[in-house]
Amino acid sequence: MGTHLGSKFIKLYNGYLLPSVGLGTYQLFGDSVREVVDKAIFLGYRHIDTAHSYNNESEIGEILKSRVDSGSIKRRDIFLTTKLPAVLHEPRDVLYCIEESRARLKTKYLDLVLIHNPWTLKPTDSKGGLQFVQFNLQKTWHSLETFVKEGSVKSIGLSNFTIGQIQNILEGCSIMPANLQLECHAYLQQRSLQDFCKARGITLTAYSPLGAHGRPERHRFTDQPVLLDDPALDSLAQAHDKTKAQILLGWLIQRGFCVVPKSKSDDRLAENFDIFDVNLNESELAQIQAMDRGIRYFKFKNMTGHPEFKPTEDF
Ligand SMILES: NC(=O)c1ccc[n+]([C@@H]2O[C@H](COP(=O)([O-])OP(=O)(O)OC[C@H]3O[C@@H](n4cnc5c(N)ncnc54)[C@H](OP(=O)(O)O)[C@@H]3O)[C@@H](O)[C@H]2O)c1
Repeated sequence: MGTHLGSKFIKLYNGYLLPSVGLGTYQLFGDSVREVVDKAIFLGYRHIDTAHSYNNESEIGEILKSRVDSGSIKRRDIFLTTKLPAVLHEPRDVLYCIEESRARLKTKYLDLVLIHNPWTLKPTDSKGGLQFVQFNLQKTWHSLETFVKEGSVKSIGLSNFTIGQIQNILEGCSIMPANLQLECHAYLQQRSLQDFCKARGITLTAYSPLGAHGRPERHRFTDQPVLLDDPALDSLAQAHDKTKAQILLGWLIQRGFCVVPKSKSDDRLAENFDIFDVNLNESELAQIQAMDRGIRYFKFKNMTGHPEFKPTEDF
């Protein structure tokens, strides 16, 4: 079987087109996120990945609105993904969150809303104290479905869910999840989740596709190698006249994933978007497949003990 070039869009089961390269915006705030989003749009990015908890929806909304108002882009050409946080799973909170996100992003509709995590939390005080809560996310899902039916959300999906947790949603849903966002890169290839989702028409978005080497301290563990430093990538980069980052992203696109790399540098933003011509042959694909080591950079260790936190399963 031959290999194929990655596509610029991934078609969701409901017909909407998800641009294969999106802009990750975790840890980008204030003027920095304004500049990065503006530059990314200029470079051709049409998919922005944010979350209620990233505290940057307002700035993203400002830039998009000014670009739409000036006529340089059309709202319908932008794909906006945001995520429902673990503290807002109750139906009344879902309503609040969707309205907030729409207001901050200055948009009539959201293209994709994901349940950010399968674990539900309850604030216990105003200083950030949180309590673990057992909650059936079918209820959260049903509230999300009402927004799809009424038109303010186009597609809904999940993030950091295991196969069992996705199955729970599938059993109770009237609208199927369109997308699963999960940590995925050469060190954590997520093949069982990919097979499961593919068989059910659920598309996949790889977060931390470059190995998240700028992640916060609380997510750093001493035994974790830096993906971009792996020498196995050198010869592939040389052979394709691409950077190691471009090989990692191009490989995911070739596997049919959407990717959402984050960068605050103009050059790296351009680099991360210039990947559609990466075409790895069978032996090169096998070389990257052999890099899988089950290394998860976002371990969510602070969820240990939560009934919905399943660190021994793929998610
Ligand atoms: N659903 C979830 O729970 C979840 C969790 C984590 C992340 N995400 C999403 O996924 C996005 C991406 O993940 P991430 O930010 O964790 O990690 P990432 O995109 O894998 O890596 C970002 C890091 O790589 C650097 N970088 C970017 N392009 C590069 C290049 N071409 N060459 C070398 N280094 C490069 C960035 O530094 P510079 O900025 O200096 O370029 C930054 O330190 C997030 O922004 C967020 O939107 C979702």
